[in-house]
Amino acid sequence: MLKKNSFSMRRTVDEITGSHRLRRMRKTDWSRRLVAETRLTVDDLIWPCFVTEGEDYAEPIDAMPGISRLSIDRLVAQAKRLAALGVPAIAPFPHISGDRKDERGSHILDDDNLMNRLISALKADVPEIGIISDVALDPFTSHGHDGVLRDGIIVNDETVEILAEAAVGQARAGSDIIAPSDMMDGRIGAIRDALDAAGYQDVAIMSYSAKYASGFYGPYRDAIGTRGLLKGDKQTYYLSPTSTEEALREVEQDLAEGADMVMVKPGLPYLDICQRVKETFKIPTFAYQVSGEFSMIEAASAAGMLDHDRVMMESLMAFRRAGVDGILSYFTPRVAELLAEH
Ligand code: PBG
Repeated sequence: MLKKNSFSMRRTVDEITGSHRLRRMRKTDWSRRLVAETRLTVDDLIWPCFVTEGEDYAEPIDAMPGISRLSIDRLVAQAKRLAALGVPAIAPFPHISGDRKDERGSHILDDDNLMNRLISALKADVPEIGIISDVALDPFTSHGHDGVLRDGIIVNDETVEILAEAAVGQARAGSDIIAPSDMMDGRIGAIRDALDAAGYQDVAIMSYSAKYASGFYGPYRDAIGTRGLLKGDKQTYYLSPTSTEEALREVEQDLAEGADMVMVKPGLPYLDICQRVKETFKIPTFAYQVSGEFSMIEAASAAGMLDHDRVMMESLMAFRRAGVDGILSYFTPRVAELLAEH
């Protein structure tokens, strides 16, 4: 026997809400679409990817399910495909073979290093996609740090000099946007000066301004082959996960030094920082959904714990809701395809 509800409400729902029933607009698909406050389009996506030596070659990355390091020709072909789908920009990272690495990462200065060859190939074959090149020493150093390491210390000013020269090399190869990810003091101003002096006033800078010392970069170490190499951690140059105001100071300083765009990294765990940066400075603000964020979703979905595409889209929408202008995401190829179907 069904028992009648013995509780009786003191006020009706209409009295409580004053008839403001927010569910009204959630009733149908068309009304939900009509009032949607946030949109995610292919224009919001940047594809981070990994390049390696070889020809017609792909090498799966264990810690990043479904992602491979690609030879230049394969990567260019994929970039062409993504450009056709409307992806505005690509952010490649190189897997440098061990015999090219040294203490100072000197190979970054060679015009014919893997990264520069890739940039030239992309510029020649896929001119319609923007190239955002990470100017960083970690793929090139024997110790996996983003700077010159001496007596256990990452030497700031010497590192900045190398990065400024490397940035000019990347601009010469055809990079559109230089993206320093090292967090050395003064690097943005030094890179701007070097680019201008070399005649590259039009090459922009996207600064990894708020880059945190994070465990979420784990799978990336596999991707570029630095996992076993890294001695110690990066806490003396990246931000502490405890910092908020310091992140804003980094952004402020990078803008003053000439950054055109800034980035927050990792992404979702630092969504509060994304929002504060955008609200405070009102400048082009990007977020990097890093390797660990990607692999968590992949692993949980593979184990049947999450609906892959649903959480993928939800995670990207969160960045847009926070005010982020664009997202570097390993999901880019999949998302670009999904968006093209609709
Ligand atoms: C280093 C660099 C890192 C990533 C991009 N550039 C790793 C690090 O800072 O230690 C991480 C990207 C990712 O985890 O997806 N220059």
